[in-house]
Amino acid sequence: MRRIMFAILAIIVVGGLAVLFGLFRSTAVAPEYEKPLSTAEMQALIPKGRELALAGDCFGCHSRPSGPMLAGGVPIATPFGVIHSSNITPDPTYGIGKYTRADFHRALRDGMAPGGRSLYPAMPYVYTHLTRPEDADAIYAYIMSLPPIAQPTPENTGVFRLPVRMFMNFWDLLNFPDRRAPQRADRSEAWNRGAYLVEGLGHCGSCHTPMNFMMGPDFSKQLQGAVIEGYEAPPLTSAALTSRGYDIDTLTTFLATGIAPQGTAFGGMYTVTHFSTSAMERKDVEAIATYLLTDATGRVPEPKQPPAPLPEAQHPAAGSPMDRGRLTYAAACAGCHGLQGEGIPNVAPAMKGNATLAEENPLNVLTVVVNGVPVRKFTGNQRLYAMPPFAHRLANDEIADLVTWLRAEWGGRDQPVTPEAVAAIPRSVE
Ligand code: HEC
Ligand code: HEC
Ligand code: HEC
Repeated sequence: MRRIMFAILAIIVVGGLAVLFGLFRSTAVAPEYEKPLSTAEMQALIPKGRELALAGDCFGCHSRPSGPMLAGGVPIATPFGVIHSSNITPDPTYGIGKYTRADFHRALRDGMAPGGRSLYPAMPYVYTHLTRPEDADAIYAYIMSLPPIAQPTPENTGVFRLPVRMFMNFWDLLNFPDRRAPQRADRSEAWNRGAYLVEGLGHCGSCHTPMNFMMGPDFSKQLQGAVIEGYEAPPLTSAALTSRGYDIDTLTTFLATGIAPQGTAFGGMYTVTHFSTSAMERKDVEAIATYLLTDATGRVPEPKQPPAPLPEAQHPAAGSPMDRGRLTYAAACAGCHGLQGEGIPNVAPAMKGNATLAEENPLNVLTVVVNGVPVRKFTGNQRLYAMPPFAHRLANDEIADLVTWLRAEWGGRDQPVTPEAVAAIPRSVE
């Protein structure tokens, strides 16, 4: 008995060490990619690589808002400390200038940097794993053609100061499946392209797919919506998008400009539309919209009309919470969003038909009303005002009544919002 226990213990220890030292890690990169590309081959791949780098939002995560492009240093907060994105310009000291072609493939497809340095999943290699070798080549060629920037990456904080990279081998064993993009001969070219971009480089699931307790994606709930950085990244299934009124045209417009009849992109989604989808070729953005909107039977369902106002919002009893909400809207919001919720071009988006109000979870409306949205640039020189914060101007119960009415009037939602829910919204520090 004792001996059996001992044997089991030994197996566990040896197994654990084997995982820790990466014995179970395989590589998706075939030996043929050790052969360098010629200068001419690199040159020819640059335009293709640029489009794919945009699709992968390498710029959004690897460039500080005011800093040089791709020089890294963007802080990514996790419950265990801050991870900084790396400098991925071709600088030989601080960047990836010494990366070979195969090194680059391994970073993108295996999550493994040279010298057996396991990357943290803040780099979305769980998704970029799907990148085809010829596309990894193209991104490599493009990035290596950019100016090198000698800027060191700041130190990480918290547990990430410690030598914990090895433990990523455990994480990868449990959270890094060898996925492929769905590709089907019976679907259009646009659908197949969209599938490849959404599931892979575009890493939409890194925000829109719920995470497990290890902060790994729960692929059984693919794109079904998740809370990330204080916002809800709403579900992106065909049913959810069409219920919020999207068709291929409006969804393409939302991604390509950050503004659609369903509202504007804010929170983490602004970064995506600003750095990535608005700079991509229209054809690729349309492919993303096509893939997301196509249902299991291969059809793109008709978009739903915006929900009708609920009777209690249209004709509230005088002095009722709904009535107070309606009056607050008229006093504080209608100047920008219109008395009928119609919005004002170049000032503020419409509330009527706004997808944010129709979400089941009131988190995003509450966060925007409490903290506001700073002025930002949209494509095509479109500008909007800043959405002011209301945390200091309205009491929690006023905001609760206001948002309850907004959702009932334009979102088709009858669940009331409580003052406690308003109080629970973290106040932004700015
Ligand atoms: C969601 C944010 C995010 C996106 C998008 C992203 N990266 Fe990263 N990347 C990171 C972070 C964070 C690190 C640092 C990880 C670490 O220290 O383990 C990193 C590390 C890397 C490294 C390793 C560099 C090194 O040796 O330290 C490479 C190469 C890289 N990224 C390339 C890319 C490319 C190419 C793209 C676009 C296709 C991309 N990344 C998109 C966040 C991102
Ligand atoms: C000074 C003009 C202004 C006022 C006043 C204002 N808003 Fe806004 N609001 C905006 C702008 C501009 C945006 C879009 C910001 C962006 O995405 O850049 C916005 C966005 C929103 C959004 C997010 C939806 C979307 O599509 O972006 C909601 C919800 C919202 N406002 C509700 C309200 C409510 C409720 C009030 C009153 C308490 C209010 N706003 C007052 C200008 C205003
Ligand atoms: C960094 C996190 C993040 C990533 C990555 C991300 N999103 Fe989002 N997305 C959000 C958040 C947060 C919202 C809610 C705010 C808003 O409506 O703009 C959102 C909203 C949206 C909406 C609006 C839904 C609605 O009901 O109006 C669409 C469409 C969308 N995302 C598509 C995508 C696609 C396609 C990708 C991949 C190319 C993607 N997102 C990647 C965070 C993200």
